[in-house]
Amino acid sequence: MLERLFSPLQVGGVELRNRLTMAPLYLGYAGEGGTVSPLLLEHYQLMARSGVALVVVENATVDHPTGSGSNRTLRADTDACQEGLARLARAIKNEGALACLQVNHGGRFAGMGSPPLAPSAVETFGRTPRALNPDEIEFITGKFVDAARRVKEAGFDMVELHGGTGYLLAQFLSPRTNRRRDAYGGSLENRCRFPVEVVSRVKAAVKEFPVGYRFLADEWLPDGLGIEESRKAAAMLQEAGVAYLSVMGGTYESFFLPDVVERCRQPGYMVHLAAAIRGAVSVPVIAAGRIESGPLAEEIIATGKADLIGLARVLWADPDWPAKVREGRDHEIIHCDPGCDDTCTKLVMKGKPAFCVRWPHEKLQVWKARYV
Ligand SMILES: Cc1cc2nc3c(=O)[nH]c(=O)nc-3n(C[C@H](O)[C@H](O)[C@H](O)COP(=O)(O)O)c2cc1C
Repeated sequence: MLERLFSPLQVGGVELRNRLTMAPLYLGYAGEGGTVSPLLLEHYQLMARSGVALVVVENATVDHPTGSGSNRTLRADTDACQEGLARLARAIKNEGALACLQVNHGGRFAGMGSPPLAPSAVETFGRTPRALNPDEIEFITGKFVDAARRVKEAGFDMVELHGGTGYLLAQFLSPRTNRRRDAYGGSLENRCRFPVEVVSRVKAAVKEFPVGYRFLADEWLPDGLGIEESRKAAAMLQEAGVAYLSVMGGTYESFFLPDVVERCRQPGYMVHLAAAIRGAVSVPVIAAGRIESGPLAEEIIATGKADLIGLARVLWADPDWPAKVREGRDHEIIHCDPGCDDTCTKLVMKGKPAFCVRWPHEKLQVWKARYV
């Protein structure tokens, strides 16, 4: 019945055993200083054991502290991180899943940047970032290359560049946050220059190693990047060598707008974006966003809206989701609760490790006793 969902797929020359992936989810589980902690290892072991084909680990910074979200953001910015990252890759692969690590520069949303760096000095949440000069753009490109090389050497199967959530790569693409008048701003081609250079340079360094891309298809802001331009940008990224595009919508500046909050409560709320991007490229596309049930996931694949399913909170709330779906036990799934007032997001924004209010009582008690 769910034959497409559990069929294999080649992505960048690597075989995924089914169409299920874990989408990156930062939960504040790394240690102070972004170290690979026992809690983080335990969490990713559980996610990998779920039966998904690929686990994409949450964002790791390419440049600390300027590009880091917080002091618990994972790090891929120095060789000293290698040992911890290698342990993380092994922990995931030993459970039978492929392992991918997402690398990121937060730009104007980097909580630790002081002042934060961005394409242009466009204020956000009371902070005005400093516009990057061409030498600094080159420096950060090199930081992405170094981080990707470390991910490969640490034993991961893929690396993912974080072009979502309105972070630095997305900030260059956006007409709202990129007001530059040099070769990196203005036309869509110019705004795409930095992301395309990062992809090309990373690809040249890691060679056949697959390089995925988290792609912000719509900022959900009146003056932000919209789907018409993002379809063209997606084709440019494909041309530069990405192995897949993992599509999302929204940034920190739109996530908390009342109409966006309402939209994000709906099952499959970002699938239409994935479908629009899939029509513009030939590399595999991942759709995420409250993909709550097996029939919904199967329908997305069967009707060609996406090639792969990304499960973030969905899998974290119920790591048995893949088994329950496969065995037709959808009614037993523990669902991420859209009415919980974003408890997990609020906890991580306060610098606390997140728990899910929907976990079974016993699991929640044990977890809180150990980590709160
Ligand atoms: C607390 C939280 C942390 C997240 N961290 C990341 C991240 O590190 N990188 C990323 O690309 N997306 C991140 N996301 C977005 C998710 O990957 C995903 O697109 C979104 O949560 C929708 O999928 P879901 O309904 O299965 O959670 C995060 C989302 C939440 C709620």
